[in-house]
Amino acid sequence: MVVTDKKIYIETYGCQMNVADSEVVLGILGNEGYAPINSPETADLILVNTCSVRDNAEKRVHQRLTELRAYKQNNPEVLIGVLGCMAERLRTELIEKNNVVDIVVGPDEYRKLPKLVEDAYAGQRGIAVKLSRVESYDDITPLRTEGITAWLSVMRGCDKFCTFCVVPFTRGRERSRTLTSVVEEVRKLSEQGVKEVTLLGQNVNSYKDSNYDFTDLLQEVASVDRTMRIRYTTSHPQDMSDKLIEVMAKNDNICKYIHLPVQSGSDRILKLMNRTYTIDHYLNLMKKIRLAMPEVAFSTDIISGFPTETVEDHQMTLEVMKEVRYDGAYMFKYSPRENTKAWNMNDDVDDKEKGRRLNEIVLLQEAISNEINQSMIGKTVKILVENDSSRSSDDLMGRTDTNKKVVFPRGNALIGEYRTVTIERATAHTLIGTLTAGENA
Ligand code: 5AD
Ligand code: SF4
Repeated sequence: MVVTDKKIYIETYGCQMNVADSEVVLGILGNEGYAPINSPETADLILVNTCSVRDNAEKRVHQRLTELRAYKQNNPEVLIGVLGCMAERLRTELIEKNNVVDIVVGPDEYRKLPKLVEDAYAGQRGIAVKLSRVESYDDITPLRTEGITAWLSVMRGCDKFCTFCVVPFTRGRERSRTLTSVVEEVRKLSEQGVKEVTLLGQNVNSYKDSNYDFTDLLQEVASVDRTMRIRYTTSHPQDMSDKLIEVMAKNDNICKYIHLPVQSGSDRILKLMNRTYTIDHYLNLMKKIRLAMPEVAFSTDIISGFPTETVEDHQMTLEVMKEVRYDGAYMFKYSPRENTKAWNMNDDVDDKEKGRRLNEIVLLQEAISNEINQSMIGKTVKILVENDSSRSSDDLMGRTDTNKKVVFPRGNALIGEYRTVTIERATAHTLIGTLTAGENA
């Protein structure tokens, strides 16, 4: 039986890989006649695509599942499914302990969704959580809803096994899509008017398709349409090759923005984290990148309170932040995750102290981001107009090549255009300006 005329609502938590996966899921179920809607009220199928990277991400999803129970109580025909990393990690527990869940599907089993949904309608709850060494959804066309920007996952899984991270266990081994299919998808997106593509992978620099590596892929993708911006994330500092820096520098449409998680400023902690680089290596890498691309912007991830982290280790993290002067950072308290190596280490920095250190990290980053943004006042920047501003319908929002958000009165600008804006004010997170008179950028 093919299910038709059903409405599907999907809620996505966690990283951009999950956002891209949700679009794959909508693509797969779209072929079965499911139409996506933006709220759960009238949905026949409610899916929650989940994240396990920290305990509070999981807590939020548990809470949300409790709320979603109401839709099932109103209409027992409604099905609820849990997708993604929590499905992989918790498996049967989700169905057994939480009687709202009908389907549990891990990140490599989305092709089974139509069958699982059909079985669930027939009263049989289903679980599919096998990880695969080959699944890359290479042939699935994701159903995108984001307008002129697109996320495109080019590889899945991670083989790095950082000792704090659950991803290798929930998303499995590294595997890549074929270069030809990625390039073809980018070509189609360009024809559809998409203006910016972000190549995604948990560890995107490990992309490999026979003799092609990530730099080959990036070069090919950048050559498809020179009016299209190309971004990528996430890089591991160990895998930022000279060739990659060269490809970025010589292609104008590859954005000069790199997310390069440092995690900690202490070599001793980095070693315990199995990050495989030293701060010396990291800082030299940054210097090399800045030499090749003086305008480059960096962001990072930082964890506070990893096992055995001392106040001195923490201080070293602050020093690295001051030295690099990141444009932005994602900052977290260490959260022990089952199965990881660090799970067996003593989580000895108490929560209050983790919070105190995190607060210092956040305040320092805010100050640096603010200073960098204040220094932009008076400058004219080229932006891609992305969408309406979330704050006011009179304003539009665009981004610079270096990924800075710029808000400005809409004037005659249209979404999808490149325009220039002169910056007049700035906060730590946003630049505010006005359109420069005259032609498009
Ligand atoms: N605790 C805190 N932060 C974590 N991250 C990954 N695992 C954990 C954890 N157990 C952070 C890392 C990673 C980002 C995606 O999430 O900084 O780069
Ligand atoms: Fe996790 Fe490390 Fe892999 Fe990133 S590189 S997904 S932090 S194991």
